Amino acid sequence: MPQPTAIDGIRACVFDAYGTLFDVHSAVGKYRQRLGDLADPVSLLWRTKQLEYTWLRSLMGHHADFWQVTRDALDFAFDMHHLKDPELRKDLIDAYLHLDCYPEVPEALSTLKARGFKIAILSNGTPAMLEAAVTNSGLGGLIEQNFSVEEVGIFKPDPRVYQLAVDGLDVTSGEIVFQSSNAWDASGASAFGFKVAWINRFDQSAERLPGRPDAEIRNLMELPPLLT
Ligand code: LAC
Repeated sequence: MPQPTAIDGIRACVFDAYGTLFDVHSAVGKYRQRLGDLADPVSLLWRTKQLEYTWLRSLMGHHADFWQVTRDALDFAFDMHHLKDPELRKDLIDAYLHLDCYPEVPEALSTLKARGFKIAILSNGTPAMLEAAVTNSGLGGLIEQNFSVEEVGIFKPDPRVYQLAVDGLDVTSGEIVFQSSNAWDASGASAFGFKVAWINRFDQSAERLPGRPDAEIRNLMELPPLLT
């Protein structure tokens, strides 16, 4: 990975939620014993379908909120793996409101906040999902604002979603550095006009899409030194 270069002129740090701040696989992680060998395949399929449904619904012009999409994706994963356990399904959905944040997140956000950057989330999640995830992971005092796609009724990477942060934070797109572990979201945000740090937590390959991240880093503690 090339050495990331400095990013100048930033006033606000905006974060993707799921996969970037919150570990989506921590939901299944809490019930690993009840799922046995199916734990990882179910968790991966759940996440994959959840994202596919966001893109497909956006293309079809049939929006449903992320809570609905998350439940539909879990139902699909249960069906594919022939799981019939309504109690487990309910526990997993509830766990989505109590996801763990990644370990470095509180310190990284505190460092950025102390330096005076505005701190916000911009996510597919509904306002209620984001509020629960932030509160239950103890990040409440660190995040000033949650921007949800529900305000525009379409999912990422539609440019109207990224515009929400520009309008809501009263800064220009170039004064925002956007962080996502989802490489396609990093591309979408860069194509829109944000500065972007791709948090490549799992050594994934770069997407072949419009928009290139300004920096590629492994976790959020590598962000503060880049902002000059
Ligand atoms: C989000 C999805 C992309 O939080 O994880 O917007």
